[in-house]
Amino acid sequence: MNILLIGSGGREHALAWKIAQSPLVNTLYCAPGNAGIADCAKCVALNTSEHKDVIDFCNDNNIELVVVGPEGPLVEGIADALNSAGINVFGPSAAAAQLEGSKGFTKDLCARYNIPTAAYGRFTNALDAKNYVETNGAPIVVKADGLAAGKGVIIAETVKEAMEAIDFIFEGAFGNAGAEVVVEEFMEGEEASFFALSDGHHFLSLATAQDHKAVGEGDVGPNTGGMGAYSPAPVMTPALIETVEQDIIKPTVAAMDDMGHPYKGVLFAGLMITADGPKLIEYNCRFGDPECQVLLSRLKSDIVPLLIATAKGNLKNASADWYEDTALTVVMATKGYPGKYEKGSHIGGVEAATQLEQTHVFHAGTANIDNVLQAVGGRVLNVTAMGESTREAQKRAYIAVDTIEWPEGFCRRDIGWRAIERKP
Ligand code: AMP
Ligand code: GLY
Repeated sequence: MNILLIGSGGREHALAWKIAQSPLVNTLYCAPGNAGIADCAKCVALNTSEHKDVIDFCNDNNIELVVVGPEGPLVEGIADALNSAGINVFGPSAAAAQLEGSKGFTKDLCARYNIPTAAYGRFTNALDAKNYVETNGAPIVVKADGLAAGKGVIIAETVKEAMEAIDFIFEGAFGNAGAEVVVEEFMEGEEASFFALSDGHHFLSLATAQDHKAVGEGDVGPNTGGMGAYSPAPVMTPALIETVEQDIIKPTVAAMDDMGHPYKGVLFAGLMITADGPKLIEYNCRFGDPECQVLLSRLKSDIVPLLIATAKGNLKNASADWYEDTALTVVMATKGYPGKYEKGSHIGGVEAATQLEQTHVFHAGTANIDNVLQAVGGRVLNVTAMGESTREAQKRAYIAVDTIEWPEGFCRRDIGWRAIERKP
C-alpha cells in the first residue's frame, strides 16, 4: 500500500524509518519531510492546511493511509476532512484532538470521569483567575488553554509571578490560545511519558519514556521541545503501568467514546508520579518528540498493521513486541536554541555516526542544499543508540555525537542521568 506521512521533525523521521521497513508498504510519501526522511520516503511539498490539496494528492497517488505526526493539522481537522473523503487516517478528529488542543477540556474530562490530575480552575478573565491564585497560594501553575508551541505553561514560584503570568496570557502573549487560562495545583514528583494507541474503543499500551525538557545540563534553564529522551522509564514499574492503564488511559478512552468523540490515534499521557500515585499533567494527541525516536527504536513489531488497526477500529486483538534494551536519544541543536539561532551551518560526519554499532541518527531541522547537509532549525539531529542499560545506550550515543562535525551545534552531555543514578 501507499502511505502519506505528514510532518518534518525527528519524530517523523523515526516514523518514516519504521514505516519504510514494513513489507506492506509500496511507496511512502512524506509532506514536507527533511533531509533524513528523504532517505526512506518520497518527500513532497503539500500545504497540509489545504485539506482539498491533501485529499487530491491521496486520490492521485492511491494513498490508503495518512499518518499525521504533529498536533497542529489534527487540531485543524485534517483527520475529519480525510475521513469524509473515505481515506484512513492515523490521528484523531478535531473534536478528539481537544485532549491536547484545550487544557480546560481535558481538565473537565478528568473531573467528570474521576481521572487523577491536579486541582484546577478555568478562567476567561484575569480577575477571577487572580482570585483563585489568592485563595490557593504559590507555587501554582498558570497555563494558556490552547496550543502554544510548548510555551504556554508557567510554573509560578510566588503569587506575584502567577499574577504576572495571568496578565501576560490575557494580554495576548499566545494570541487566541490564551483567551482562556487554566490555573492548577503544583504537583511534586518525577515526570514520565506513557504512550498508548486507541482505536476509539480499545487501547493498546505501547511503552514508557522520559524526556529532558530544559536546555541546560542538570535540567536547568528555559524549556525546549525536548533535548533528549530514553525508553523505558525506570520509574514506571509494572504496578504503576497497570495503575495508569486502569485509572487514566482506560477511563479517558471510554469518556471520549461516551462524549461522541472516539479517540483514534496515539494518546501521549504526560504523567507526574506523585506520593499519591500517578496523576495526569496533560495529554498530547501525537507521539512525543524526541520520545518517538526511542519508542520506535525499541518496537520489534511491524508498525503498519498497528497504525491501520488504530485507524480502522481493530485494535482489540492487536499486540506489539518490544526489544528489552534501552534506547536513548541525544538532541543536537543549533547554538542559541531555544532562543534566536542562525540557519544554514554545514554538518558533517552523520554518515559515519550512523555506521556505528546500534546507532541511528534521526534528522529534524535539516535540509540538503547544493548537496551539503545544512541545519535549518532549532533541534537538528537526534543521535539515538540502543544498549543493555541506559548507561550503555548513553555511551554509544555520545560516541556517535562526537563523530559529528558541526561547530555551530550543541547538545546536553547528561541525557539519561536520572535513570542512571536511580537505585534499583
Ligand atoms: P505541559 O506543556 O502541560 O506538559 O507542561 C510543561 C511542563 O510543565 C510539564 O512537563 C511539567 O514539567 C510542568 N507542569 C505542568 N503542569 C504542572 C503541574 N500541575 N505541576 C507541576 N509541574 C507542571
Ligand atoms: N518531548 C515532549 C513533547 O513532545 O511534547
